[in-house]
Amino acid sequence: MTDRQPPMQDRTQVRRDIRRIKNLPTVPGIVAKISRMVENPETSASEVGRLISQDQVLSAKVLRMANSAFFGMSRKISSISQALVILGFEVVKGLVLTSSVFDMIQKSMAGLWEHSIGCAAASGAVATLLGRDDAEEILVAGLLHDLGKVVLALNLPEEMRQVAARVASGGVLFYEAEHEVLDYDHSELGQWLAEHWNLPESLAEPMRLHHRPEKAVLKPECTAIVHVADIIVRAKGFGNAGDLLVPPVSMAAWEMLGLRKTDFLPILEILEPKLASLCDITSIN
Ligand SMILES: [Fe+2]
Ligand SMILES: [Fe+2]
Repeated sequence: MTDRQPPMQDRTQVRRDIRRIKNLPTVPGIVAKISRMVENPETSASEVGRLISQDQVLSAKVLRMANSAFFGMSRKISSISQALVILGFEVVKGLVLTSSVFDMIQKSMAGLWEHSIGCAAASGAVATLLGRDDAEEILVAGLLHDLGKVVLALNLPEEMRQVAARVASGGVLFYEAEHEVLDYDHSELGQWLAEHWNLPESLAEPMRLHHRPEKAVLKPECTAIVHVADIIVRAKGFGNAGDLLVPPVSMAAWEMLGLRKTDFLPILEILEPKLASLCDITSIN
């Protein structure tokens, strides 16, 4: 392992690294198309459904997730149009995006896909306990929160090796090791990816701030839920977020959500059966 220069104290390093990333993952064409269609108020669910259904492999992956333990639907969703009506445009778009980047997540880091679906399930469990009507959207934010790690692993492999070595030597969290090696962490790479892909703030802010939820301003509760869910799923040992340690929960996030210590048990009661049945989407291929 080669030693790096001491971390720089300004943001030029992240900009420099981003310029180095040549094989920038492009936003899946279909996601861009759906976004354009959804912006048009004249677009109907069946038109969007027809577009997604043209890609049979993608549709099958989306339906597999829509029918998984994530959403706990009482009846089977058998078509994309039905998924659009039941789950809504934003959720289906998030599932299309997730299906499109699934291979990338799988290739980046062993256990990261499981961590992502576990965080999604935990986000849904916390949102359900809080009685939120946007639980499905928050769940999708949980699914995509660590996409910055995918960029790090696939595009900056030498830095990723150094980060992993620091984590393995003990005593530091993954994002702290990223700061030591890069002077920024995957949340900034996630922010950049979200901007590059023109993702909505409901996904971008939790990607950017899930380790600093007290800074969120646009969707603070959504970001706080993803933060809490990220910690819960690590504590449960489901998947691999790249850490040997479990970071502490931000008390500001916990209190902002109005959660009490006694809420932890009911969250686990919702979550545990979901985690047990998520095995069916540990691969969506
Ligand atoms: Fe993270
Ligand atoms: Fe995470």
